[in-house]
Amino acid sequence: MAVFSSLFSVPSGPAYFDSAASSLTCKAALEAMASYYSQDRANVHRGAHRYTRQASERYEAVYGKLASFFNATDQEFAAVRNSTEALNAVALGLDWKSGDEVVVTDVEHHSNLLPWLRLQKQGVKIRVLAADGQGRFQADDLSELLSRKTRLVSFTACSNVLGASVPVVDLAKAAQDAGALVCVDAAQYVGHHAVDLKKWPVDFLAFSGHKCFGPTGIGALFHREGSGLQPWFVGGGTVRDVTLKDYQLLEHREQFEAGTPAIAEWIGLGAALDVVSKIGCAAIEEHDRGLAEKMLSILQETDDVQVFGPTSAAEKSCALFAFSVKNVPHHQAAVMLDELGFAVRSGHHCAIPLTRKLAVEGTVRASLHAYNNEKQVEAFGNALEQVAQLA
Ligand code: ALA
Repeated sequence: MAVFSSLFSVPSGPAYFDSAASSLTCKAALEAMASYYSQDRANVHRGAHRYTRQASERYEAVYGKLASFFNATDQEFAAVRNSTEALNAVALGLDWKSGDEVVVTDVEHHSNLLPWLRLQKQGVKIRVLAADGQGRFQADDLSELLSRKTRLVSFTACSNVLGASVPVVDLAKAAQDAGALVCVDAAQYVGHHAVDLKKWPVDFLAFSGHKCFGPTGIGALFHREGSGLQPWFVGGGTVRDVTLKDYQLLEHREQFEAGTPAIAEWIGLGAALDVVSKIGCAAIEEHDRGLAEKMLSILQETDDVQVFGPTSAAEKSCALFAFSVKNVPHHQAAVMLDELGFAVRSGHHCAIPLTRKLAVEGTVRASLHAYNNEKQVEAFGNALEQVAQLA
């Protein structure tokens, strides 16, 4: 199994098994941010001195990186704080009519549920596509929910609890065939898999930098040209002209950039995407698959452990596993695992409806990435045995 850990800032304590909450940061992103702060520190797109020109050049270059990483145009991206902000931006930036329908799934993170539920106050109706017991979807089930009233279908490319592969293209095609817009929450997907937006028939895609080796507080929203998205914020940097009575927005992507942006973080995100490309998504997928096979067999073979989501590694989108240990509350199991050398997340993982569907109060979640290795997973098996002995 290839080792990529030298590219990352890896803590010296417990093994980091919480990448679905936030990945470790690649050294290249830290260096890019430090060099912006130490050499090019200035605002962007404001003024003419050399520092602002240098900062603006580095800032603008990230749009080009996004365009080539996702095979889209640089005008189709907007900088946001994270996937949550991106999904809210779609909900706030479209013109809804009473009677419009939005389809979501029953495995969504709250970030891809609350922005749509809030639209109910405007008369928008929410319909729910149910996953099967392991978190899998069928496009035919979606087709049954679609009608002329369906304005938008929004679904995750990978559940942050179940980690099941999602047939993104099949679902998106079914939605588009019915005339609906398609929005994908790719928070758990980007950094694990390549996304080709010329092949994915989606109108919006949200992702967070901090889950794909970048800094916190930065992410991007892809909004396909012609999707009709309006800026959710307005202010400095977004306008061609302003009077005391009205304003005229810029036509291009600047209209989505109100206020001074998170310049260093955006530059760090660009460096992180370069690292994903350098490792290669195919190599990350292979690495994930190897870890997923090992982890699944450990979880399945440990007495008193119940694992949620697909039972075969081939059906996992990434190496992300929610499980429970009989008679051991999830937070207690996580604290024990921490003491035994593993940082895992416990709780409802911001997916209360899904947690309720799984009929548990919460789960323990181990989520791995390119810097983890098989030896760590084997050692995790021994630690889990010790936790399960409390059962
Ligand atoms: N959405 C992140 C998680 O699943 C925070 O843990």
